Amino acid sequence: MARLLVTGGAGFIGSNFVHYAVEHTDHHLTVLDKLTYAGNRESLAGLPEDRVSFVLGDIADAALVDDLVGSVDAVVHYAAESHNDNSLSDPHPFLHTNLVGSFTLLEAARRHSVRLHHISTDEVYGDLELDDPARFTETTPYNPSSPYSSTKAGSDLLVRAWVRSFGVEATISNCSNNYGPYQHVEKFIPRQITNILRGVRPKLYGEGRNVRDWIHADDHSSAVLTILEKGRVGETYLIGADGEKDNKTVIEMILTLMGQPADAFDHVTDRAGHDLRYAIDSTKLRTELGWRPHYQDFESGLAATIQWYRDNESWWAPAKDATEAFYARLGQ
Ligand code: NAD
Ligand code: DAU
Repeated sequence: MARLLVTGGAGFIGSNFVHYAVEHTDHHLTVLDKLTYAGNRESLAGLPEDRVSFVLGDIADAALVDDLVGSVDAVVHYAAESHNDNSLSDPHPFLHTNLVGSFTLLEAARRHSVRLHHISTDEVYGDLELDDPARFTETTPYNPSSPYSSTKAGSDLLVRAWVRSFGVEATISNCSNNYGPYQHVEKFIPRQITNILRGVRPKLYGEGRNVRDWIHADDHSSAVLTILEKGRVGETYLIGADGEKDNKTVIEMILTLMGQPADAFDHVTDRAGHDLRYAIDSTKLRTELGWRPHYQDFESGLAATIQWYRDNESWWAPAKDATEAFYARLGQ
């Protein structure tokens, strides 16, 4: 049994990790979360109080972070500003949380000699051509496109520097696009599902040829636990489940699964600087650490996710109007 500090544990993937770890380990989890617009205490409802505690706070608050990091065996760092469209409208919070917040955690991990796992994204590698036979690997050069991905890239580089210069015992994982329950309605898949549930047509940026490499959030969580248990300090591991799909195909699949005509969507203004394709080669994680994804069939995972949004309107409805007002201002 270990004591873990999970930053951003009230967000989409962080809360999935907390649920997953409660079910699959004996660890005690302390969640540190600022509860920004993206955090939701309801995502942690029903978890046993003797296994999970919650601290409201900012990862850039050095005194608070020092106290918390000093009282655990390891930090799993999910907290971030995570949405590209927001970063294009206002980059400021991305610099604060993704860079200053990550720096603050690294300094505390250094002072207390505490193991840290940093959660990052495949977006740090930029994008690929549609017909490029290559996929991202751990040695692909960094080439981020947006304020979001550049601040995530910066946080990865801070982690690498703190490992080399100060001997911090850290690992990094870069994962592809996650889907599953509890994802904020600003993101592609939940936005389209909840639009359809409200009788609104889904919104496809540009022509929808952009490809994302989808992985179920449970599989991201199992990979992170594997890296925490078996990963080599100082190493980076890419996490992916061979789930490449273009956005138009995904929208058509959602419409069909929800009993609508497959072409009942609108093309809207494209995202500035929109990355064309992400694709992960997770050979290192699979061969070195023996990890495998559980969800092999995207369509059935998507159907279960649709059902979750049907059953949990009270979770997503409070955020829906403000999210759509934001997109309306952008013509999206
Ligand atoms: P999210 O936006 O759903 O959740 C982020 C959480 O962090 C929220 O609970 C928010 O309240 C909290 N937070 C934000 N700023 C904070 C601060 N200063 N102090 C404390 N808490 C703060 O994000 P997500 O989609 O769950 O992503 C989690 C992590 O996974 C991020 O680091 C992201 O870069 C990474 N990631 C996401 C994906 C994806 O597909 N969503 C894929 C790969 C990697
Ligand atoms: O690749 C990992 C990344 O995946 C994570 O690091 C990010 O935190 C996460 O948000 C996600 O980034 P994307 O920008 O790929 O995800 P998003 O859900 O915003 O969009 C997915 C694709 O769908 C993208 O090509 C843009 C498009 N899109 C998005 C929205 C919201 C649409 O066509 N219509 C939409 O309404």
